[in-house]
Amino acid sequence: MTAPHIELAQPHDLARLAVHFAEVADEPLFVLTSEFPRTLEQTEKFLGQVLASPHVGLVLAKLDNKVVGHCLIRSTDHPALKHVAKVSMAVSAEARRQGVGEQLLRAAEKWAQHRRLRKVVLDVLANNRPALRLYEKLSYREEGARKDQVLIDGQFHDELLLAKFL
Ligand SMILES: CC(C)(COP(=O)(O)OP(=O)(O)OC[C@H]1O[C@@H](n2cnc3c(N)ncnc32)[C@H](O)[C@@H]1OP(=O)(O)O)[C@@H](O)C(=O)NCCC(=O)NCCS
Repeated sequence: MTAPHIELAQPHDLARLAVHFAEVADEPLFVLTSEFPRTLEQTEKFLGQVLASPHVGLVLAKLDNKVVGHCLIRSTDHPALKHVAKVSMAVSAEARRQGVGEQLLRAAEKWAQHRRLRKVVLDVLANNRPALRLYEKLSYREEGARKDQVLIDGQFHDELLLAKFL
């Protein structure tokens, strides 16, 4: 695979971003705890909010005019929490295991470092082996777990809380 371009989302990414979101929205291991855009209209609203906020970064991996991965990083201006950012990410199925996820996460960490944030956190299903291996490779450490936090197809799953200090 040619190397993807890793860059922050721009307004002109809207249509291809909506296609990527639709591809990954129903990914079984991608637990979506907040509303996730699935249509062009929802993506337009979401992208508008992201681009308008100094506290949110959306890093994209683009290949051959297609968005093949994203990493969303959110911080806050709350005085007690403004050193922390939370990430969530997904790579389109056909682009996995080629280093895209790692590049996206490293770019999100740089985004956080530029803003002098100290800590990146994320939630991951305890049985999401690919994601856990990626986070382990990039030195994320487990800080806790929420037991039976997620119900999928009648089965409860634990959610792990991971973090990395920058
Ligand atoms: C998790 C995810 C983002 C990884 O993206 P990716 O582009 O495939 O990951 P990379 O190719 O950059 O892999 C980086 C490292 O992660 C680990 N890894 C990734 N996929 C793996 C797999 N299927 N099995 C084992 N290890 C894996 C490896 O250590 C790999 O390093 P290596 O290639 O040197 O062995 C991708 O599988 C995905 O989008 N999954 C569905 C959505 C999801 O689970 N998101 C995370 C929710 S918390």
